[in-house]
Amino acid sequence: METYGHYINGTWIHDENNFTVYDKYTGEAIATVGNASKETVNKAVESALETFRSRKLSPTQRYDILMKAAGIIQDRKEELALVMVREVGKVLKDALAEIDRGTQTLIASAEEAKRIAGTGIPLGQPGNDQKMAFSIRVPVGVVCAITPFNFPFNLTVHKVGPAIAAGNTIVLKPAEMTPIIACKLAEILTEAGLPAGFLNVVNGLGSEMGQYLLEDERIAMYTFTGSPGVGRHIKSATGIRKVTLELGNNSPNIVHRDAPDLQRAAELCVTRGYSNAGQACISVQRVYVHQDVFNEFVDKAIQVAQKLKVGDPKDPSTDIGPMIAEREAIRAESWIKEAVAQGAKIAFGGTREGAVLQPTILTNTTPDMKVMCQEVFAPVISIVPYEDIDDAFRQVNDSRFGLQAGFFTNDLQLAMRAAHELEFGGVIINDVSTYRADVMPYGGVKDSGTGKEGPHHAVQEMTDEKIVVIHMQ
Ligand code: SIN
Repeated sequence: METYGHYINGTWIHDENNFTVYDKYTGEAIATVGNASKETVNKAVESALETFRSRKLSPTQRYDILMKAAGIIQDRKEELALVMVREVGKVLKDALAEIDRGTQTLIASAEEAKRIAGTGIPLGQPGNDQKMAFSIRVPVGVVCAITPFNFPFNLTVHKVGPAIAAGNTIVLKPAEMTPIIACKLAEILTEAGLPAGFLNVVNGLGSEMGQYLLEDERIAMYTFTGSPGVGRHIKSATGIRKVTLELGNNSPNIVHRDAPDLQRAAELCVTRGYSNAGQACISVQRVYVHQDVFNEFVDKAIQVAQKLKVGDPKDPSTDIGPMIAEREAIRAESWIKEAVAQGAKIAFGGTREGAVLQPTILTNTTPDMKVMCQEVFAPVISIVPYEDIDDAFRQVNDSRFGLQAGFFTNDLQLAMRAAHELEFGGVIINDVSTYRADVMPYGGVKDSGTGKEGPHHAVQEMTDEKIVVIHMQ
């Protein structure tokens, strides 16, 4: 069994307390990981701050390190993917795809390192004739990255890559269910030439160590992906310091009667509702289908779901693996049962074996059911008929979340209306809410969070604009 501690100032250190990481499909123990004390967290922040104050990397040095790390990751692709197959329960093909996405995110971050620029500022007001001004973008300092279990490689790269590109130093707290891949990333960045102290990793359980991080005023910015509850707590505990919060969604998708290809829409809604066992913030969850094509769409969706292979994530042909924990599968199953008791119908699936929940299609759902109004974060979609598009827009917007929405239509006017009227950080036309290109701005409104990710946008969040004014004699 492997052992991981905390990576501080270029050295792995080990605390007395440890916890175990399990294979999410077999239940086998796969690693022992350190559970950081307050003193260890303190050392990690100290290392990040000392490094930020004493050592700078030039933009080309940052570029070279990130590009070299991307190369090492590609060379070790299969091995890294297998880490996620075990610690996340992610199916092999999705794990390989995530390593590729993470590589591209790192390359895009490297490119951003060379593009950080301020602007010329005209001071065209009376009394300023002898002044000229421009702005530069400067790193914020120590960035604390708190990462989730669902995409523990790419979403860690989305925080660490831009932070390095922007010239910051980092304290990384990986998700306790999936810390191994983040430790591997730290090893790879070190091998690629990242000097000691730029990236510090503290592992640990529970809210106590999170609180140590939030209370440490030496940290200039927090970037977090996870639940809205924790996001709210981070925002209220960090005062006027910067935060980027990527939180949940109960992702809506509209399939209008003029959808260009109903079969493709059904395939996308089903497969992207179930990929990663439905554990993505943008997973298709609520599907609103025009009543003229509703029955045909439901039939097609069932046919697609029937073909999906569920089970062992190590099998290259498996489409849907286990959820992150049996308790999460039990929770999702109880939401399905509650919906059924309230009048919903199971059109497909609905059963559970351990942590594996069968992909599920519900009909006859109502807006107040948990499977509709909360983030289900499981392979469960609900298909709802609508009569007119205004009503569909109203139902889509009737949510406390606002991350991404999908809309299938052939009507350009309607597509433009959706772009303006749907209250989301992203509106995806003729594809599903689950679409994400890693270079695009990604982030929600309402309870879905604040700030944007995507390397260019994250670098903006992780730098401050500083004005320079010159008086010309
Ligand atoms: C998320 O769950 O927010 C990330 C989804 C993705 O990057 O595909």
